[in-house]
Amino acid sequence: MEHLLGIEPLTGTEIECLIDHAVELKATRGALDELPLAGETWAMIFTKSSTRTRVSFEVGVRELGGSVFFLNSNDMQLGRGEPIKDTARVLGRMAHGAIIRTYDQQDVVDFAHYSGIPTINALTDEEHPCQILADLLTIQELCGGWVGKKVAFFGDGDCNMGRSWAWAAVRLGFELVVAAPAEFQLKSDFQDCLPDDAPVTVTDDPKAAAENADVLYTDTWVSMGKEDEAADRLKILAPFQINDELVGLANCGVIVQHCLPAYREKEISESVMEAHADAIFQQAENRLHAQKAVLAAVSK
Ligand code: CP
Ligand code: NVA
Repeated sequence: MEHLLGIEPLTGTEIECLIDHAVELKATRGALDELPLAGETWAMIFTKSSTRTRVSFEVGVRELGGSVFFLNSNDMQLGRGEPIKDTARVLGRMAHGAIIRTYDQQDVVDFAHYSGIPTINALTDEEHPCQILADLLTIQELCGGWVGKKVAFFGDGDCNMGRSWAWAAVRLGFELVVAAPAEFQLKSDFQDCLPDDAPVTVTDDPKAAAENADVLYTDTWVSMGKEDEAADRLKILAPFQINDELVGLANCGVIVQHCLPAYREKEISESVMEAHADAIFQQAENRLHAQKAVLAAVSK
């Protein structure tokens, strides 16, 4: 694997190999015989805020033997209009790999192309592949795998998380239901890109989506960059909150997942958040293990 630009470009087998390696890296944390990033220096370029992604990559690169430097793109000439392709050509001659969080997916694609170094998408408006890999690892740990399982996603279906979940369902074959109001449902042109037999359905009925679900998943209703729309979003998305009623409709043993940061009493009730905190923070920890598998794969 040369880069991780999204879930879409991956095959099911590639995803499964990454999860298998993440399991191994988690079990052997601190006891690796060989450090795949030894002698390497990685760049992290972030245009948006981050807690989990930044920390897990900084720790992960170091645990694999490399070093890392963090650049807020506003501090770089990029923030003053230097094109991404020129930034990429400079960093490609100095760093061994790059981890990028930004708005436009094309910027990450262009960086990978012009830099010639392994490039990892740490979140764009289009996809959040690192989060999905950590989520899959968590589902494997807590549900024994995703085969035959039903994942229900609630809220802003057309955000990076909704789209990356759709590609994960397509690549791995599990059932995904996206419960969202029409305004925030996966856009029809996106749905048209999915294969005809994609195991992905959409609904505006959150209760129907929760019925028989094995995983209830949500994300903030106001993704980074959408702050101006906050008031409308909070109003329109209110019926899609994961709360005790929805949890009660799901399968016995259902797990609740949230990519975090969580906004209590918005996309998730306080009581559900606290009752399922162990699973949700296990999911957050798994960012580290899943991304170490990604770093090892792209640095080969
Ligand atoms: N889930 C996630 O990507 O968290 P951060 O925005 O804190 O990195
Ligand atoms: N959809 C959210 C994910 C945050 C991790 C956002 O883009 O802000």
